[in-house]
Amino acid sequence: MRQKLVAGNWKMHGSLAANQILLTALASQLERLNGMRSAVCVPFPYLAQAQTVLTGSCLAWGAQDVSQYEKGAYTGEVSASMLLEFGCRYVIVGHSERRALFGETDAVVAAKFAAALVAGLTPILCVGETLEERDAGRAESVIAQQLDAVVAESGMAGLAKSVIAYEPVWAIGTGKTASPAQAQAVHAFIRSKLAALDPDVAAALVIQYGGSVKAANAAELFAQPDIDGGLIGGASLDVDEFMAICHAAQG
Ligand code: PGA
Repeated sequence: MRQKLVAGNWKMHGSLAANQILLTALASQLERLNGMRSAVCVPFPYLAQAQTVLTGSCLAWGAQDVSQYEKGAYTGEVSASMLLEFGCRYVIVGHSERRALFGETDAVVAAKFAAALVAGLTPILCVGETLEERDAGRAESVIAQQLDAVVAESGMAGLAKSVIAYEPVWAIGTGKTASPAQAQAVHAFIRSKLAALDPDVAAALVIQYGGSVKAANAAELFAQPDIDGGLIGGASLDVDEFMAICHAAQG
């Protein structure tokens, strides 16, 4: 039985003062929830704060990106072992904003995924199609290609130690959620594609949905058989919204 994971993706939001209030409230309210897992992926400078506030709580934390390199002359980069030093459990890799705005290719994403695994972090691998790709009937082939790059590098044994987040690009930050049926169809595609390589790994793999998830639509999305929680952007910055989404994942 897969346990649902609700992870917040704060993106480039936050301040020391606002984070303190948000993290403290989430940590105390989440104590009363069981049967699901939760995490927040915060900007790099706030990892120390997350570690201080959340250590001992049931809210895990992580980062939103990681270097594919271990160490060296890579100005501006942050390595997986550095994230580990700040107690991170998760790291998002291949978010569509990184792919589209910062030129991350499938090969770079696969290398980052592998670097996260080597350090013992759990990568949250984002895959998803643009509206153009969906309209051209290419959603599945785009997602297959994104997955193939990672499987080629890390194998199904690597995938077994990760989380996948299906995030249709057209649903991110737009208020347009994929319908539960649309999302379920892609989740089922991802799981069956991976099942052809390793049925046990595919059956156990947590596949989150992301893209305008909020309190009002979380329950029906999470009720789908292949949707194992969510990667939450905007709504993760609001205590009541995030808590309601976590409640919806409780099952
Ligand atoms: P959103 O973002 O919930 O604000 O649409 C999701 C994401 O980008 O991970």
